[in-house]
Amino acid sequence: MSGTAGRQEHGKKVAALISGRGSNMRALVEAQAQPGCPYEIVAVISNVPDAAGLDYARQQGIATAVIDHREFDSREAFEEMLHETLLVMQAELVACAGFMRIMTAEFVQRWEGRMLNIHPSLLPLFKGLHTHRRVLEAGVRIHGATVHFVTAELDGGPIIIQGAVPVLADDTEETLAQRVLRAEHAIYPAALWEVAAGNARLENGRVILRDWPFDESTTLTAPMAPIDFSRGQE
Ligand code: GAR
Repeated sequence: MSGTAGRQEHGKKVAALISGRGSNMRALVEAQAQPGCPYEIVAVISNVPDAAGLDYARQQGIATAVIDHREFDSREAFEEMLHETLLVMQAELVACAGFMRIMTAEFVQRWEGRMLNIHPSLLPLFKGLHTHRRVLEAGVRIHGATVHFVTAELDGGPIIIQGAVPVLADDTEETLAQRVLRAEHAIYPAALWEVAAGNARLENGRVILRDWPFDESTTLTAPMAPIDFSRGQE
């Protein structure tokens, strides 16, 4: 288990599900170096055998598993193996980090309130794929990322945290994706931290937050510099 940044002994055990690059999973692992981190990534599971993120996990001494969905006759059979693997890994929380498989309602229900996902848009806007392209086509000025609890509705679960970034005049899909990804790497560890610490939880379909510091003074705007809406009310 050598090489894992700041691994904490008694954090909530988290399995990260990936399908590719795994940069969000890496951000979750790196955040473990912060003192008092209430979670520990104990396993990285990929449905894609050559997902690049698996190499990073192995280098960190984290247990990895490949469950290739193409080897199963049905979505249910694939999910049964995934569920069993999560139990063997003793996962208490599941963090989907670029895991590109649609899940059945049955599987989601088994992990209700314990499974998080990150999506590259300010949900409920731009659910689904190719979010950056569609954002540019729509001409919106503010874009971002969302961490939410997973429910049976695709990209529709209760929101835990969002991070916003401006859309710039000369943005391409790639430059916008990079900016959003930086926001993803900031908000996913923050969300997982709060859920693992018990400061954010799912109750009756809503996210209940406790002791989570908010700053009421900030209004995010784009393309302008931040506007101070308190002026003029003095
Ligand atoms: C991330 O941008 C994540 O938000 C997105 O896939 C990328 C994975 O990158 N997820 C989805 O689109 C899920 N609907 P990563 O493998 O480097 O974390």
